[in-house]
Amino acid sequence: MNIAIVYYSYSGNTHKAAGVLEEILKERGNSVRRLRLEASGESRNFFVQVVRSLFRRKAETAPIERDFSGYDLVIFATPVWAREMVPAMREFLGKIEGLSGKKAITFVTYGSGFGKEHCLDSLESVLQQKGAACLGRFSISQDKVGDKALIEDSLNKIMRL
Ligand SMILES: Cc1cc2nc3c(=O)[nH]c(=O)nc-3n(C[C@H](O)[C@H](O)[C@H](O)COP(=O)(O)O)c2cc1C
Repeated sequence: MNIAIVYYSYSGNTHKAAGVLEEILKERGNSVRRLRLEASGESRNFFVQVVRSLFRRKAETAPIERDFSGYDLVIFATPVWAREMVPAMREFLGKIEGLSGKKAITFVTYGSGFGKEHCLDSLESVLQQKGAACLGRFSISQDKVGDKALIEDSLNKIMRL
């Protein structure tokens, strides 16, 4: 399969999990492209980040590929911020194309776990509005982002790739 992994990572956890996922998918013979969102205008202040995320603000992202029509599966990942996806992911999703009828998987990385399902609901709802078929979701604690067996198990519960 031709797979894209699109993610944002502020402090590196989601980046690490996305790297492990890429490794697993490549070992299974898939072609994988990993796309990391970079937010130019994101605040470095925790409370500002919380408020902006909570109120569903957007953060401008640097231009990367926005047409996903060429992929068989697109995996979207975000850290949970105030039980929401990060503003950069929200901005990016508003502008992407080619998701109609496309298979999608979502995952989040989290700290306490507060609001992680709400965050996944929110992410899936935006993807569904874009016409994507969400196959499944999983969440990874920030302490387990390098745990290959856990990530592999989470993926297997959704589909055998
Ligand atoms: C601004 C901010 C808000 C957060 N809000 C939550 C939250 O609501 N629930 C939770 O479980 N973790 C929360 N966290 C923890 C992150 O989701 C967690 O550390 C995640 O793995 C960070 O991913 P990253 O290193 O890829 O940026 C928050 C972290 C930050 C910086």
